[in-house]
Amino acid sequence: MARLAVNVDHVATVRQARGITEPDPVLAAGLAELAGAEGIICHLREDRRHIQDRDLRLLRETVKTKLNMEMAAVDEMVKIALEIKPDLVTLVPEKREELTTEGGLDVLARKDHYANVTARLKEAGIMVSFFIDPDSAQVEAAKQCGGDIVEIHTGHYAEARTEKEADRIFSQIGAAVNTAEKQGLRISAGHGLNYVNIKRFRELPQIEEYSIGHSIVARAVLVGFERAVREMVDLVKDF
Ligand code: PXP
Repeated sequence: MARLAVNVDHVATVRQARGITEPDPVLAAGLAELAGAEGIICHLREDRRHIQDRDLRLLRETVKTKLNMEMAAVDEMVKIALEIKPDLVTLVPEKREELTTEGGLDVLARKDHYANVTARLKEAGIMVSFFIDPDSAQVEAAKQCGGDIVEIHTGHYAEARTEKEADRIFSQIGAAVNTAEKQGLRISAGHGLNYVNIKRFRELPQIEEYSIGHSIVARAVLVGFERAVREMVDLVKDF
């Protein structure tokens, strides 16, 4: 049975568009938990375009399931994580000009750096997840750096323009999942998943958790946050 963790960044995006105090991602997180989400995710970006430091602090106080802080592996964020102590940190690549996280982390290219960041976080009792492309070499590198979890990037699958391309990327995801399982890593997946393309993931029961934000917030605008979360929980719980 897979779990759903809800990313509340884009509730904050709507708030920041007006520069006022609503809608509040902290309230949305509470509603998501009431609707069955088993984790709350927020990405504190270096440019603070959506989630603010205040949100992270309040989420730490109020989240009752599991708080997953997505962040770049840079000193500023490591310091904040060590102070706030989320249950889990997901290391992601971050470019200022991107609209959203575009690709997975290139762990292989900076293994020493990621191993060092992971050690600092784990020493404080924080679990570490690596957001990586479906590539077995990156999975192995995440393990060598001390990662507990790999979150497989599903964005390229979600954006595939043809069925053939989607099939090809889905098999890469399957291969990366198998490698992660052999390495004894826990496995999550996310990015670009919605109420339609998630269904195929039933074929990969090794994936324990799905990290989903945009499609839930988009549906919530129309049907309400609790209903949007509950409908996604119902989809993944039978995987
Ligand atoms: N996982 C990671 C590492 C992400 O950066 C994001 C986007 O913030 C997501 C999952 C969720 O992606 P989406 O908003 O497309 O569901």
